[in-house]
Amino acid sequence: MNKHDKTPLHIALVMDGNGRWAASQGRERAFGHASGTESVRACIRAALSTGVRYLTLYAFSTENWERPREEVEGLMDLLCDSIAKESPELARQGVRVMVIGARAGLSERVRRHIEAIESETAGGKNLTVVLAVNYSARSELVRAASLIAADAIAGGLSPVMITEAALAEKLYTAEIPDPDMIVRTGGEQRLSNFLLWQAAYSELYFTPVMWPDFGEEEFRGAVEEYGRRERRFGKLTNSY
Ligand code: IPE
Ligand code: IPE
Ligand code: MG
Repeated sequence: MNKHDKTPLHIALVMDGNGRWAASQGRERAFGHASGTESVRACIRAALSTGVRYLTLYAFSTENWERPREEVEGLMDLLCDSIAKESPELARQGVRVMVIGARAGLSERVRRHIEAIESETAGGKNLTVVLAVNYSARSELVRAASLIAADAIAGGLSPVMITEAALAEKLYTAEIPDPDMIVRTGGEQRLSNFLLWQAAYSELYFTPVMWPDFGEEEFRGAVEEYGRRERRFGKLTNSY
């Protein structure tokens, strides 16, 4: 259970603005990405202390492969280094790490790091951190359609059995509740192919703060803003 009803169970974060933050200080983009790892630590701490149980982090989109090779390699190195460095502390904090996205498109080295942190933190009960790596919501939906078609051909599934629940079960996020709130740093107001199905009724929160400047206080600010939102899910409520 959450500490109180108004605490979001699940916050998903689009961690944007690293490059612009670095440029504003006359530094390389890689410096922004490296500095952003401190914000990840801060948000995990804040999620643990506010009672948020699921924290999804958009770390690398399928479209991000289109960036210069040097930046992509730098991001993959940073991912592996951060995984190796943080895994023991995350396990100690009771944080479970899961990775979503197209794993087959990742290098053998990245896959090994992902598998290691998933197994080392598998027992975590306090918070689930879902890392989206090589993630594309449209690809996730296409993959779900393909899995459903395979079930149908195999004879276990008829078209009338294709319900919302049946489709959701084929997504990477099958075991994870939909995000209550999606937070995007860096000032852009778009989803950039993130959790398109799961975001159907998510509260959206856009902040101009660049990701490396987003810390515990900013995270708590987002949780407080969530508490002021009224979710109606298409129904009418007492306040109107
Ligand atoms: C987000 O920061 C990190 C990734 C997309 C991997 P950006 O690298 O997009 O930073 P900006 O948006 O260019 O400032
Ligand atoms: C979204 O940021 C992806 C991640 C944060 C990993 P981008 O910087 O890639 O998004 P666009 O290109 O501005 O839409
Ligand atoms: Mg960006």
